[in-house]
Amino acid sequence: MAATLSEMSPAEAESVYFNEYPPPKNLPNHEALARAFIDLHVEANRRVVLVTSGGTTVPLEAQTVRFIDNFSAGTRGATSAEYFLEQGYAVIFLHRQYSLLPYSRHYSHSTNCFLDFMDEAPSTSDQGRIVVRDEYQKEMRDVLRKYRYAKQNNLLLLLPFTTVAEYMFELRSLAKLMRPLGANALFYLAAAVSDFFIPRSRMAEHKIQSMEVPAHLDKGSKAAGQDDIYTGENEDQPQSQRKKLVINLDPVPKFLHRLVDGWAPDGSMVVSFKLETDPGLLVYKSRTALQRYSHHLVIGNLLSTRKWEVVFITPDAPYERWIRVPKSRRSKSISGVEDQVGLAEAQKLNGSVLAPDA
Ligand code: PMT
Repeated sequence: MAATLSEMSPAEAESVYFNEYPPPKNLPNHEALARAFIDLHVEANRRVVLVTSGGTTVPLEAQTVRFIDNFSAGTRGATSAEYFLEQGYAVIFLHRQYSLLPYSRHYSHSTNCFLDFMDEAPSTSDQGRIVVRDEYQKEMRDVLRKYRYAKQNNLLLLLPFTTVAEYMFELRSLAKLMRPLGANALFYLAAAVSDFFIPRSRMAEHKIQSMEVPAHLDKGSKAAGQDDIYTGENEDQPQSQRKKLVINLDPVPKFLHRLVDGWAPDGSMVVSFKLETDPGLLVYKSRTALQRYSHHLVIGNLLSTRKWEVVFITPDAPYERWIRVPKSRRSKSISGVEDQVGLAEAQKLNGSVLAPDA
């Protein structure tokens, strides 16, 4: 029986995984943009951080109607990107398409709709003109100025992905392109990357059908290996015509190994995130990841408290350090709280002094 990707060496798994998929259509264009961006900042001797953000999807069909998604709105990545920019970094923002972006995130969340910040001008001469409401003028001007500064100075490159395969191709290419940066490169991996996927060879080509279709009409609505789909229960169809979908997923290779040992420039820093829901597992899992991949920092967070606290797990003392937003600063707004954690992360990485834990 052929070895699965998780049984292979990291280098073998890389070759098998990347040969199974065609590179994403946008990859050459993204590589050209990234190359020009990196050259510019190598020239300026500026530090460049690759921030990954948002969740990857796992398509169930090659012509995708259904997919499995990973939790992440992109708040952590978008917020941290703003603070990296403030600390003098140029930022490559590799993000899930349509997830939150630096700066616009302040006005695009469903609880923070940009329309609520606007009004029709009150004076008769300006009637019909749309203006920002008085109470938001200062906040919006500040955000606008920072956004314009980043754009005009070519400090922020936005590159979208959707599927886990697209993410992997982009990550590998960007890491290799960042080699001329050497120790000026930082990888800040906040994306929620799928742990399981359907290999291309086992994926249905067309939309998976919930009812039996005549064999001569079925042009590939079944995953190869029919055991992925079983005939099952049903409410209003004869049982023999209904199907229950059972999906058989393989583990996605952990390319953090390859990033640290092969793709990333020598001397660069690699920071990964660990998301857990069980408080008893967070530190253990974060430490295990740090030991397994030999990178520099794991930032652990729990789903339920991720907006108030994170734990930094490092190979050297202090080994475990919690950053907490004081209770008094938690209730203001979602982005206000994210800002505290984002600021602390960017400052710590930049060697600045952190606010003491609450
Ligand atoms: O966007 P928000 O809503 O603000 O939420 C932020 C967050 C909770 C998603 C974020 O803070 C976070 O914890 N991100 C990582 C979540 C995660 O899914 O971790 P993981 O155990 O799948 O992966 C751990 C690390 O390995 C990650 O840095 C990931 O980028 C990397 N990885 C994961 C799988 C894989 N096959 N290869 C990888 O390199």
